[in-house]
Amino acid sequence: MSAHPHQSDTVQSDLHPSDSYVLGCDREELERLGRQHAIWRDDCRRVWRQAGFGSGQRLLDLGCGPGFASLDLADLVGRHGLVLGIDSAAPYLQHLRERARHLDLPQLQALQRDLGAPAPAGSMGLDHPAPGAWDGAWCRWLAMFLPQLDPLLDLVQQALRPGGALVLHEYVRWDTFSLHPQGAMLQRFVACCIRHWRDHGGDPDVASRLPALLERRGFRLAHGRSLMACSAGTAPKALWLQDFLASYPSQLMAAGVWSPSEQEALRSELEQAQRHASLWVTPALVEMVWIRC
Ligand SMILES: C[S@@+](CC[C@H](N)C(=O)[O-])C[C@H]1O[C@@H](n2cnc3c(N)ncnc32)[C@H](O)[C@@H]1O
Repeated sequence: MSAHPHQSDTVQSDLHPSDSYVLGCDREELERLGRQHAIWRDDCRRVWRQAGFGSGQRLLDLGCGPGFASLDLADLVGRHGLVLGIDSAAPYLQHLRERARHLDLPQLQALQRDLGAPAPAGSMGLDHPAPGAWDGAWCRWLAMFLPQLDPLLDLVQQALRPGGALVLHEYVRWDTFSLHPQGAMLQRFVACCIRHWRDHGGDPDVASRLPALLERRGFRLAHGRSLMACSAGTAPKALWLQDFLASYPSQLMAAGVWSPSEQEALRSELEQAQRHASLWVTPALVEMVWIRC
């Protein structure tokens, strides 16, 4: 692949709803996404290998955010491949482009697009390479925020070649996020997050709907696996949850759906958990590899 159509700049296409995206895209969240990817990187690399992602391929990173996974994918495909990160958040894409430039990764491109809205009439908005010429797509923690899945699934269906792989990491049951034996306030906080995301059109249990939707579009489920973890408070997956709890409550308070007194009770519960043996259970994350037939 020599042509890199999106190399020089992010393509400004649709108007984008980043201001309504419930996790926001400020510096703090960007850095949290970086720490989060570091914790999940080994799982990503394993499933990418399993899906056959490799050198010279053309891959999409759907809802790429600041591009932490896109950078690893760009390493994987090498200079003869192409990785196109697509997201609606301009600041995240800016970060991706700067990193790609700094690391001299011309194979990594960025496209601004609302993946929850239909593509511009008559095209899917990805003209290079042509529809049907992409080898694979990676999609993590995007579908859960989309009010409609059809635009995303239409894009994947049209973009991938037969035999191409769609690799997903999404939640099937977010309310398994819990702390034992304490955790009453955490349970309230989890319920608050779920309500808030649903109020914004998202579905934190979206993975439960994807199999039927993908089968109907001619995809075959080649692999599925649980990535749910249960561990002591010092294990990486528990630290990942604690990191989320250090930043997201302030956003819910700013939105007026989580009160300072609830936050104080949650803070003291988490402090208790640090002092005693506690078991942290993650939201039920699942991995799926779907092959385009
Ligand atoms: C939790 S982040 C995950 C980012 C990345 N996939 C990762 O795993 O690090 C969710 C991403 O979805 C993007 N997003 C949310 N709604 C979107 C939409 N309608 N169109 C495109 N991107 C969207 C956000 O901007 C954000 O970058």
